[in-house]
Amino acid sequence: MNANRIQSLRGMSDILPDEAEFWDRFDETVRSWLRSYGYRPIRLPIVEPTPLFKRAIGEVTDIVEKEMYSFVDSLNGEQLTLRPEGTAGCVRAVIQHNLVAQQPQRLYYMGQMFRHERPQKGRYRQFHQVGVEALGFAGPDIDAEQILMGARLWDDLGLDGIALQLNTLGQPAERARHRGELIAYLERHGDLLDEDSRRRLHSNPLRILDSKNPALQELIHGAPRLLDHLGDESLAHFASVQQVLRDAGQPFEINPRLVRGLDYYNLTVFEWVTDRLGAQGTVCAGGRYDGLVEQLGGKPSPACGFAMGVERLTTLIREAGGATGSQPVDVYVVHQGVAASRLAARVAESLRDRGIDVLFHCGGGGFKSQMKKADASGAAFAVIIGDDEASAGEASLKPLRPVGELPNEQRRIGVDRLADAIIDATMDWEDA
Ligand code: HAM
Repeated sequence: MNANRIQSLRGMSDILPDEAEFWDRFDETVRSWLRSYGYRPIRLPIVEPTPLFKRAIGEVTDIVEKEMYSFVDSLNGEQLTLRPEGTAGCVRAVIQHNLVAQQPQRLYYMGQMFRHERPQKGRYRQFHQVGVEALGFAGPDIDAEQILMGARLWDDLGLDGIALQLNTLGQPAERARHRGELIAYLERHGDLLDEDSRRRLHSNPLRILDSKNPALQELIHGAPRLLDHLGDESLAHFASVQQVLRDAGQPFEINPRLVRGLDYYNLTVFEWVTDRLGAQGTVCAGGRYDGLVEQLGGKPSPACGFAMGVERLTTLIREAGGATGSQPVDVYVVHQGVAASRLAARVAESLRDRGIDVLFHCGGGGFKSQMKKADASGAAFAVIIGDDEASAGEASLKPLRPVGELPNEQRRIGVDRLADAIIDATMDWEDA
């Protein structure tokens, strides 16, 4: 390989046209699904002040401790970070623009996130999320609605085998009581802890319960359960979410070890998981974060949200045999000769005026080589204009993919009737 050639960064991929067209269609499905639940788009900066993420996600989390792309702005010395997730920025924007003061908000965003993780299948350093946030809603109804939204999207995308895991993290005071007991229990078994757990013992002991280390599993199994420390209100909230899910026929598994990797959650947390992606099987995750708005300086406001990993979902769709083919244009315009090319350029624009997608041949060459390109483009028709056609104000229309019994021979048509002829023929094809 040429040493002068600069490559993309590890874990940060280019999304090439075949894949990007597939992503565009994915985005369309997702946007129309979000509209159907009344969610509205918000577009947020990719770079934010570093303290935003430290305060929102928590100082003692993997993301803040070791995964953030942080740097100092050399022009003014500000500490900046490429967003590792979208909730913090969304809440910042909601506070900054006083959005929840008027009414509760249902918002969504799509885009790149950055985490310096070890890349593997389904885990990248630049990845994309669709994030969904509802601010100003306190009741369990919105938690359940957001969970059921997921089920509908999997259906819209033709995906099955995505299982729902559910847990509750209670309220901070309940967690504090549980935390005391948990630390005492873990300290009693200090000799069994691994290095990571020892480090977290006093800063974030709940995360130890999420450890994948096989040597810790027995210890984790016997640990005091947060569920046993919850008060009536928290239990009622959790029961109510479960009731709506049962009423909707949505299966779920309660996973007491589901604690999430970000500190802002309380009460309901959930993850949608598949076993078809290897180790990185969580395609969507979220929960309630009632304290975050206040923690970031806003007036207290309950909130609930989730985000899904676009790379993981598109991989699943492709592996399930979902359509990935490209969408060709309707017409390829072939032209040769000075007058013909000028007319052809005008014809191409007039077809686009009528909503027809047109690829105008650029780069010269003879009719034969242009027709090869027209065929390869996948277009339904070639519109051919040579000097002969140009002097008569006509074009030759040639169907490139015959359908059923319909005639597919080339014919000459006045350029002002061309769009109608193409639209009529396309309708005949669709009927055939
Ligand atoms: P999260 O669990 O960190 O939550 O990420 C959500 C989803 O993003 C994951 O389930 C996964 O599908 C995808 N994801 C995360 N990291 C990577 C990676 N390195 N490569 C590929 N995909 C990845 C959040 O980010 C929260 N902000 C979700 C939320 C919104 N909670 C409330 N509102």
